[in-house]
Amino acid sequence: MIADPSRFITDQTRLAPVAFVPEIELYQADEATALWHLTEATLDKVDLPPPFWAFAWAGGQGLARHILDHPELVRGKQVLDFASGSGLVGIAAARAGAAHVEAVDIDPFAVAAISLNAAANGAAIRVRQADLVGADAMDFDVLLAGDVFYDRAFAARLLPWFDRLSRAGVSILAGDPDRTYRPAGAATRELATYAVPVHPTLEDASVKQVRVLRYGVCEEFQPALPGRPGFA
Ligand SMILES: C[S@@+](CC[C@H](N)C(=O)[O-])C[C@H]1O[C@@H](n2cnc3c(N)ncnc32)[C@H](O)[C@@H]1O
Repeated sequence: MIADPSRFITDQTRLAPVAFVPEIELYQADEATALWHLTEATLDKVDLPPPFWAFAWAGGQGLARHILDHPELVRGKQVLDFASGSGLVGIAAARAGAAHVEAVDIDPFAVAAISLNAAANGAAIRVRQADLVGADAMDFDVLLAGDVFYDRAFAARLLPWFDRLSRAGVSILAGDPDRTYRPAGAATRELATYAVPVHPTLEDASVKQVRVLRYGVCEEFQPALPGRPGFA
């Protein structure tokens, strides 16, 4: 049992600038596997998800960079940072002038990390532990998704939801380093690509090519699923 997740996070990480978004600082770990094992040992649980919250993932870094450099995408808007992890993308949206930012993640450690990181950057963000996949648009204008196409089952749930939200008028922007389950073809429009430095223990390369994608431009959109045309 970890009585105080915030204390665990500050003990196991250090506040440092994000490689590709140095104007934002996050509590980041130096190593993934040891932290993962320590979390499982401390909680006396096995099969926990990796400590996603302790890193700025490639897709999130590219998307955060793009938002800071193109603040008109979120300025004055109601923004959801979906699968927020560390909160990086939501913090970028707040910095870029979003009217309201909500960050959601299913991991309780992510929720604690987002709150710590938001405070460290002076960003006003509402943080929620929730699985919103399938929920209605909830009055958001923009949904931001950094690095979410890494898992087949997760992507298969996300794509029909993104389809429905985009048809309801929500602008969906994703940052993705060519993960296996990234949607492609008619479902996405590429806004930018960035060469993003990444943590050596997380990826198979020190730099990943990250695409910023606008997802589901309504009338063009066709749902894409693994194994079907349109799925990268
Ligand atoms: C690879 S990390 C990306 C984190 C962050 N967006 C970034 O780019 O740095 C994926 C995140 O998705 C979260 N996640 C997985 N399934 C989710 C769900 N159903 N709803 C919300 N978050 C979810 C995980 O807990 C994790 O924090």
